[in-house]
Amino acid sequence: MKKYQMFVDGREAESSTGDWFETFDPFLGAPWALIPRGAAADVDRAVQAAHAQFAGGEWSQLTPTQRGALLRKVGDLIARDAGKLAALEVKDNGKLIAEMSGQLNYIPQWYYYFGGLADKIEGAVLPSDKKGYFNFTRNEPLGVVAAITPWNSPLLILSWKLAPALAAGCTVVIKPSEFASASTLEFVKLFAEAGFPPGVVNAVTGFGKDVGAALVEHPLVKKISFTGSDHTGRMINEQAARQFKSVNLELGGKSPNIVFADADMDDAVNGAISAILAATGQTCIAGSRLLLQRPIHDLFLEKLIPIAGSARMGDPASSSTQVGPVTTRQQLDKIESFIEIARKDGATLALGGQRARRPECGDGWFVEPTIFTGVVNSMRIAQEEVFGPVLSVIPFDSEEEALAIANDTPFGLGAGVWTQDFGRMLRMSERIQSGTVWVNSYRAASFMSPFGGYKDSGVGRENGLGAIHEYLQTKSVWINVGVKTGNAFVMR
Ligand code: NAI
Ligand code: MG
Repeated sequence: MKKYQMFVDGREAESSTGDWFETFDPFLGAPWALIPRGAAADVDRAVQAAHAQFAGGEWSQLTPTQRGALLRKVGDLIARDAGKLAALEVKDNGKLIAEMSGQLNYIPQWYYYFGGLADKIEGAVLPSDKKGYFNFTRNEPLGVVAAITPWNSPLLILSWKLAPALAAGCTVVIKPSEFASASTLEFVKLFAEAGFPPGVVNAVTGFGKDVGAALVEHPLVKKISFTGSDHTGRMINEQAARQFKSVNLELGGKSPNIVFADADMDDAVNGAISAILAATGQTCIAGSRLLLQRPIHDLFLEKLIPIAGSARMGDPASSSTQVGPVTTRQQLDKIESFIEIARKDGATLALGGQRARRPECGDGWFVEPTIFTGVVNSMRIAQEEVFGPVLSVIPFDSEEEALAIANDTPFGLGAGVWTQDFGRMLRMSERIQSGTVWVNSYRAASFMSPFGGYKDSGVGRENGLGAIHEYLQTKSVWINVGVKTGNAFVMR
């Protein structure tokens, strides 16, 4: 089996323990490569290397313009290798090649955009109410950043963290998910090729409880940028608080996708399919609660169910496949258990509801696209993140009722609204408690637009101009330009 290497201090490295673990191909349901099983000692080596570059090393001496040039260079290298990296995520994660080609070709934009920002981090000269003082601010990088990423879109989600962190002048230790580490281990080598000094970008692989926890606890790590489950996010937040570390947490969702009777029905059906079946439902923004206004409820389902049922499943490497396997064996079990819970709680199974046994799915980890109707929003299937191709359909009468249902979850990551009424677009987008609202659309995201969660869906924002400030801290400098110190016991 192919053996991957970690990347520490500019060099490929095995784990200090000499241990490995298997990574699986979800389409075959079989292991295909070995990943180094890192430990706290590997985390320490990587953090020390990152810290040395941050605190006086070659990286800290670069001008912001030089940092920006390196970011743009790595963007070019990612563009060059996009096909190879996409194929790797198809193999290790079961992602569709149809989606990954687009995604990998888009990722360089993060490095171009934030590379451009690197030399536009300005402070301010402030007006002062105190005579004789010159007061200005500096925005300084926080230090070593831990980027802890999930398995669902490893390189895209990593880039949301890495590009602004590097542009800000931070250094980074990446901990990819144990379920999908391979693409990250190929990817980080591009930073060495681009000319980043050794130690600026490191990747340590292994399990959350070993490598992830050691990173969060390491005193030289000043910022944790995490995407994953709310459960792990909460744990990380608690640990980080003890050392007053700054966090960015992008957690799950239970996003409502709300269709009003006046909506363009065919567009909305397409939007509902994309919201729940894209990436086999394994996205934090999955539109997993479909709210249908009663007058169109039945007709909508008559259109939706056959399309969802006839989605082409099978080899994710084939460009015609529409629904691929789920990425992990554990995730397959989790989805099946949620289907069971929904049944027991009294939801009506309208489509799917089991593992896919189609010949084109082989021994892969496939679940049939699944639709439950008659869901009541208090049911667990409407409250908890499934992270799979399982849709809950909830009827509603009025705009007020739709809003109440939409906001009645602990999460607040995304929401879709389908209507032709401009006033309603504005009212709904103002009153829905979520970090993103899409109107007559679902799933748009860009390096230019802030992304993050309300409520339990997270803390902080990624993407957009503001994202770079997640990796900076502000210093206020007061220079006395000629006032005598005077009374030492009075605050100035
Ligand atoms: P997870 O949240 O446990 O893992 C995410 C990352 O955190 C991985 O790199 C993992 O190794 C790391 N980690 C785990 N425990 C840690 C600890 N104690 N300290 C530091 N890092 C730690 O998610 P997992 O187990 O892979 O998936 C479980 C569920 O999470 C999924 O079923 C899904 O519902 C949700 N999820 C949500 C994602 C999102 O984009 N919001 C992404 C992936 C999963
Ligand atoms: Mg895998």
